[in-house]
Amino acid sequence: MKEILFSGIRPTGGIHIGNYLGAISNWVRLQDKYESFFCIVDYHAITTPYDIKELRKLIKDMFISILACGIDLNKSTLFIQSKVSEHTELAWILSCITNYNWLTGMIQFKEKSSHNPENINTGLLSYPILQTADITLYKAKYVPVGEDQLQHIELARDIVRKFNYIYGDTLIEPKPIITESKRIMGLDAVNKMSKSLNNYIGITESSEEIFSKLKTAVTDTARVRKTDPGDPQKCNVYISFHKNFSTQEDLMNIEDGCKNAKIGCIDCKKILHKNMLNRLSPIREKYQEISKNKDIDDLIELGNKKAKEKAKNVLNEIKEKIGL
Ligand code: TYM
Repeated sequence: MKEILFSGIRPTGGIHIGNYLGAISNWVRLQDKYESFFCIVDYHAITTPYDIKELRKLIKDMFISILACGIDLNKSTLFIQSKVSEHTELAWILSCITNYNWLTGMIQFKEKSSHNPENINTGLLSYPILQTADITLYKAKYVPVGEDQLQHIELARDIVRKFNYIYGDTLIEPKPIITESKRIMGLDAVNKMSKSLNNYIGITESSEEIFSKLKTAVTDTARVRKTDPGDPQKCNVYISFHKNFSTQEDLMNIEDGCKNAKIGCIDCKKILHKNMLNRLSPIREKYQEISKNKDIDDLIELGNKKAKEKAKNVLNEIKEKIGL
């Protein structure tokens, strides 16, 4: 019996390289070792403003992109959160044991509220309870995520402990799994890469799109002219991107070239561009190929069914325990 792994992503746009390096590449790696459930969390996506006409397309597109990254449906279950109603049922049950002030202190709640002051809805507040329901509904022990989700997983552990204390051992305390690239900074070098800040590179963007975005990426701000020596350790292009996409040999040459002003930032970005394409082009090609597959809706349906099967049993067990 394999241990269980669960993770999710919001369909608020395409997958960017922060999502990919911080989480999805790890999903792909771990799917061999664990019984894995990956979820497109559309209920979470509606906590912030979105385009009603676009959402269905974004969900399907996310499904295709995750397959293109290497999730294999023979090994993993990939499904849509809103199609498995047990998620919201369990979220309600868990909300009845979650202290209000555990939620108001969450960093993401504060951030998202400050970005959308006109729409501080209670869905945004109880967001981490639904996330806890996602994970516990499959009795997942491991959750591969980026650093920004660690506080939510910690809260999930608190909720599970409280549940088990009141009702007896039922739920599993989840543990996060993070990668070395747990926090990829955006092109602005100031904020975490994110869709909402528009400081990202999408994994299925074209070669031209990627290069035109790289051109705007902030480097070592102290390096004004090409003849000035730079410091790669102060350059986000080096730290967040080269380190993740370039070979050791390229990294050594760039360190030397930058420190000794032998290579300028544009040439450095050209090397990065080539290395990024080596890794991203196969994903883009696979994405285009899968997009033509007429059976995608059936594959989604199958994933939803598989997830529902497991979720139904666990929710029944939980209801039994709480006296319903
Ligand atoms: P979301 O959709 O914001 O991001 C999906 C995954 O990508 C990671 N990530 C990053 N990693 C490194 N650097 C970055 N710049 C970066 N940006 C995003 C995120 O940490 C995440 O792992 N609340 C979650 C979705 C969710 C979930 C769950 C996750 C709902 N239920 C249950 C795990 C388990 C979110 O908004 O992820």
